[in-house]
Amino acid sequence: MNRLRLPTFLLFVSFLPALQACSSSADGPVDGAKAFQKCASCHQVGPNARGGFGPQLNGLFGRRAGSSADFIYSDAMKRSGIVWDERSLAAFLRDPSKVVPGTRMRFWGIGDERELAALLAHLRGFQQAGDGADDGADARRPAIRLPK
Ligand code: HEC
Repeated sequence: MNRLRLPTFLLFVSFLPALQACSSSADGPVDGAKAFQKCASCHQVGPNARGGFGPQLNGLFGRRAGSSADFIYSDAMKRSGIVWDERSLAAFLRDPSKVVPGTRMRFWGIGDERELAALLAHLRGFQQAGDGADDGADARRPAIRLPK
């Protein structure tokens, strides 16, 4: 019995490093939904997204900073004059308080460029999910069901 068990055990152990190498591979595709988990404690996206600790992030591209109707922003964010696009979002997410000094968003920033790109692509998927902006467009827009 012991003679059988030991090789089986060794075989298992010798596979472990290979398994770990797979899951933490730096070359694999970066999953934007997974990257968004860093944001999800404060931000919501999707058809029922609401302001929570942070504003909802639907229809973000082209949206004026500090304009989601159901969230109370810092003066810094409201006065930033930013209209969110690929560039301003990337800069903000790399270093929030550098781009909007005095922002209430407490986030250390994303240093990994591929993670940032995947995250922005993920957020783009919610352009039509209701923008929460103050233009009343939500009511006129047909509801869209996004895949979970
Ligand atoms: C600890 C909570 C928290 C985390 C984590 C967080 N945010 Fe925020 N975020 C906020 C708050 C609060 C604000 C409003 C800031 C203000 O009013 O100054 C904000 C504002 C924003 C804005 C501006 C929105 C607007 O309506 O102008 C964007 C874009 C944003 N966050 C994206 C992200 C993304 C993407 C992540 C994940 C990488 C993230 N945030 C992580 C709390 C957070």
